[in-house]
Amino acid sequence: MSTKWFPPQSNFERGVDGLRIDDVTADTVATSSRYAFTSGPETEPLVPPIFHASTYKLRSVDDYLKVLEEGGYIYSRFSNFNRDSVQAAINDIEGGKGTLVFCTGMAAISTAFLSFLKSGDHIVANNPCYSGTYDMVTNILPRYGIEYTFVPTGCPVEEYRKHVKPNTRMLYGETPCNPSMAVLDLEEFGKLGRSLDNVLTIVDSTFASPYLQPVIKHGIDISMHSCTKYLGGHSDLVAGCLTFTSVDLWKTVLHFQTTMGTTLSPYDASLLLRGIKTLHLRMDKHSSNAQKVAEFLENHPKVERVMYPGLPSHPQHQIAKKQMKMFSGMIAAEIKGGVQGGKILVENVRLIQLAISLGGVESLIEHPATMTHGPMLMTSEDRLSGGITDGLVRISIGIEDADDLIKDLKQALDKIPDSLIA
Ligand SMILES: Cc1ncc(COP(=O)(O)O)c(C=O)c1O
Repeated sequence: MSTKWFPPQSNFERGVDGLRIDDVTADTVATSSRYAFTSGPETEPLVPPIFHASTYKLRSVDDYLKVLEEGGYIYSRFSNFNRDSVQAAINDIEGGKGTLVFCTGMAAISTAFLSFLKSGDHIVANNPCYSGTYDMVTNILPRYGIEYTFVPTGCPVEEYRKHVKPNTRMLYGETPCNPSMAVLDLEEFGKLGRSLDNVLTIVDSTFASPYLQPVIKHGIDISMHSCTKYLGGHSDLVAGCLTFTSVDLWKTVLHFQTTMGTTLSPYDASLLLRGIKTLHLRMDKHSSNAQKVAEFLENHPKVERVMYPGLPSHPQHQIAKKQMKMFSGMIAAEIKGGVQGGKILVENVRLIQLAISLGGVESLIEHPATMTHGPMLMTSEDRLSGGITDGLVRISIGIEDADDLIKDLKQALDKIPDSLIA
């Protein structure tokens, strides 16, 4: 892979029409970030066409090397116009120096790990975290000689520092965290990373979206998202992204991504770009809905505890206030009656759908102790020590009417017999 390739630049980065990124607000960036495609001297389609081509016809043999050296399109695993378009848009929202999009969120995470970690290295990560990340850290990285230490999710950043060793190369954080909703202090995390030599910081901020919680500005090296969730927003694609604080980091991962083949398809890149145009509107509605639902649940007699960063009772509410524009759409609620209580709720909602995943326009609910963080993944001791109690349910609040969602939860909670919670 050539070292001359550079991240695609959006209209705002190139100053097209005399507008720079600092001239507009985050709402406008989400809607108006574009990567140039010229259809002729006078016009340019507002929505880029989808380049399905796997390969490109060359005019001469020498052009092959020229494109490899200077950038351009030659083979779709190496680069593709639709990926460039969505990469430029996400990079604008994040305020980074370059973004790469991947075929899933896990492809983004595993490519980041394999790009920067090697045998003998050590990583500190929070636990619990997304189940796929947990599996990667505990079962896959050790097979390649990479050690890990877990710190409890929601702990002060100082805990990470205590576990840094001479061979530590990465600090990994997720915030708000899946499924416990604990929050990591991004400013402190960035400071810690910058105080250490040769240690990269990476944050999975999927639960917040880059619109509500830009990560890079805190001095964190890499921002990660499962674009399957809020960025895509319509439950119709799987994708992931990494945004970097330097072009050098971008280039390193581009090399690994190209060779590992973890790239996003042109069609999914195009769908993702469409989703991003309404990101700001959706995130506002997800957040205002979730605030109302969280307040309802917190006052319900069949609910033991609600974890939502927008509630003053959330242990890291002040940190969330500092770093999130609004508090997003994810709620964890511990239902009285243990596994049975949780199951009765998730199986009796009528508007909210029983499904894993999150971040789409429609509300979803799941029961982590038997589903995403169940016995096939972790022991019950690990699960409980991470705050994933038997009655915990995870709700992804959509953009429906908040009162309809509350009515739905109320009727499902009514189905939990009093005898179960006595
Ligand atoms: C916080 C978080 N990170 C990463 C992922 C992985 O994303 P994907 O399913 O797109 O691979 C998920 C998936 O649910 C997630 O919730």
